[in-house]
Amino acid sequence: MSEKKLKGKVAMITGGARGLGRGYALRLAELGADIAIVDRNLHAADVYEFEKKLMTAPTVMDECQALGVRAIGIQADLTDRAAAEQAAADVVARLGRIDIAICNAGGGTVAFADEPGQTGDAPLTGTPAMCPQHMLTRVLDINLMTCMYTCMAVAPYMKEQGSGKIVTCSSSAGLTASPGYHPYGTAKAAIIHYTCALAQELGPFNINVNSIAPGIIRTGRLGDRSKLAKRIPLRREGTIEDCAKVVEFLVTDLSDYVTGKTITIDGGFCDQR
Ligand SMILES: NC(=O)c1ccc[n+]([C@@H]2O[C@H](COP(=O)([O-])OP(=O)(O)OC[C@H]3O[C@@H](n4cnc5c(N)ncnc54)[C@H](O)[C@@H]3O)[C@@H](O)[C@H]2O)c1
Repeated sequence: MSEKKLKGKVAMITGGARGLGRGYALRLAELGADIAIVDRNLHAADVYEFEKKLMTAPTVMDECQALGVRAIGIQADLTDRAAAEQAAADVVARLGRIDIAICNAGGGTVAFADEPGQTGDAPLTGTPAMCPQHMLTRVLDINLMTCMYTCMAVAPYMKEQGSGKIVTCSSSAGLTASPGYHPYGTAKAAIIHYTCALAQELGPFNINVNSIAPGIIRTGRLGDRSKLAKRIPLRREGTIEDCAKVVEFLVTDLSDYVTGKTITIDGGFCDQR
């Protein structure tokens, strides 16, 4: 069992009800942090077989509690700025503080299977030269604005405490341009810029702000992409654990002098020519 180096800390994880966010929540709970899951659907893990099989309790909050920490769930759509502010206020009211924020809520160019009226994931189409308005707004809102609203909501509490660790979630799609990933790549690239700017502002308050840029990581929403392994230098798709280990680095004292940086977690995929 890991050393409880986050005992006494409170971590807010957006989009923590399944996938990568669930992995971050469990990892930080193992390290002793109390956990607040903020998600538009606190039962999001029920949507995909892959996640349903991973679950060891009805919700991620229950799974965290089983690790001996306090864990709460807050249902909120973080594309709404007021909802993000309310979520941060609720975390402080119920758990006392916010030391760590993992701004993980997001998604690609699909309509989620658990949205009203959907029976499965529905791909949306758009290109840089021809992107329908609803898709442009939607993808930027879900990825970029949820991230910015969450950072802005937690910053006042962290400033008052004089400490904090913020991790934003970009993507390898934000590092290399591809028309097929528009406007997702644009949103994820903007997150990298925002992370640098925020780090400069919050550094004097002893708050670190860094980003991760995962590549091809197996989650229920994205499915099995192991056939791409031959194109990845490390010859495998990434795992939730691969990303959680980097998040652990970024929220513990191991990274105290690191801020404004983006760590790519892609097995070397992006660097190839
Ligand atoms: N899986 C990958 O290969 C990969 C690669 C690069 C980046 N990412 C990024 O990592 C993050 C997590 O990806 P994942 O594969 O675990 O996805 P996922 O769909 O499994 O999980 C996303 C979670 O975010 C929640 N969410 C979505 N919109 C929200 C909103 N408006 N308000 C609150 N919650 C919301 C969903 O309900 C879900 O629980 C995303 O930001 C994604 O863009 C994933």
